[in-house]
Amino acid sequence: MNANTPKRPYTSRIDNCEAAERFIAEQIDAIRTQVGDGKVLLALSGGVDSSVVAALLIRAIGKNLVCVHVNHGLMRKGESEQVITVFRDQLGAELIYIDATDRFLDKLAGVSDPERKRKVIGAEFIRVFEEEAGKLSGIRFLGQGTIYPDILESDGVKAHHNVGGLPEDLGLELVEPVKFLYKDEVRQVGLALGLPEEMVFRQPFPGPGLGVRCTGAITRERLAALREADAVVREEFAAAGLQGKVWQYFAVVPDITSTGVRDGKRTDSWPVILRAVNTTDAMAVTVPRLDWELLERITSRILATVPGVNRVLYDLSPKPPATIEWE
Ligand code: XMP
Repeated sequence: MNANTPKRPYTSRIDNCEAAERFIAEQIDAIRTQVGDGKVLLALSGGVDSSVVAALLIRAIGKNLVCVHVNHGLMRKGESEQVITVFRDQLGAELIYIDATDRFLDKLAGVSDPERKRKVIGAEFIRVFEEEAGKLSGIRFLGQGTIYPDILESDGVKAHHNVGGLPEDLGLELVEPVKFLYKDEVRQVGLALGLPEEMVFRQPFPGPGLGVRCTGAITRERLAALREADAVVREEFAAAGLQGKVWQYFAVVPDITSTGVRDGKRTDSWPVILRAVNTTDAMAVTVPRLDWELLERITSRILATVPGVNRVLYDLSPKPPATIEWE
């Protein structure tokens, strides 16, 4: 924090329903005052922050909010569908859904350097979003899910790291109703707004999505294997009652193969690496001692149902020296 860092205007934490309801009422007034009958555009990823901002804006201005959900093809199984169900079908939002899978995967073909992959994904996201914004008329505002840690991390400069900074040159005025909230407060507000718990307590998920868990140059086949394996991991953790108890868990499919055998024939297939970590701040993590039967269930389901995979490994590495993600 430096002298330019804006101070939080709240004296107490939003840690209960009443405080969340008060915050929502205040923000609805503030949003209406700021935007009047103007239209607001919002990139809705389905992450906690943008989802809460969308739900707040829907309450405040209804159809004058236009949400754009860009599916970059690196979402987890069922994620884009959930965004559409919750926001378009249940909350009645004006939602533009863009399936840009082919564009992203074509741009990523052959790109193996992790930093380069992140840059390609970030730049393409901005391009797709700008194109969509250009097709709309009468938009004066841009909603953003900036939260207080984003402001603290960037020393007073507003930057929402997940989307790599949305187009400044769209010339839109920012609407950032949760910019003074910490993550737990955003979740409390999300619950009070009636968002599904699954969305509100979603694990951290990188902006570049499954792209950082399909290491090296992404191929459609390996990405499909990763998506299926990840869905098995999430289902089995939920069935074992570990949702919300283990901080983050997911699958990785690295770009290596090993020898296996199936139906009497030798195979050359990928491993699935299971990653699970506990932490309070993501800076240092420990690895939970998972129940052996859970590990066996995950392994046998993945080996039975995910094509192109012949091994399942559990990553026992703490951070440091490993990071949580593989890229
Ligand atoms: P690492 O791999 O650095 O990850 O130990 C720390 C935490 O940050 C998450 N992560 C991201 N979150 N955008 C995000 O919003 C990103 O680009 C990104 N990359 C990593 C990671 O999942 C972990 O929780």
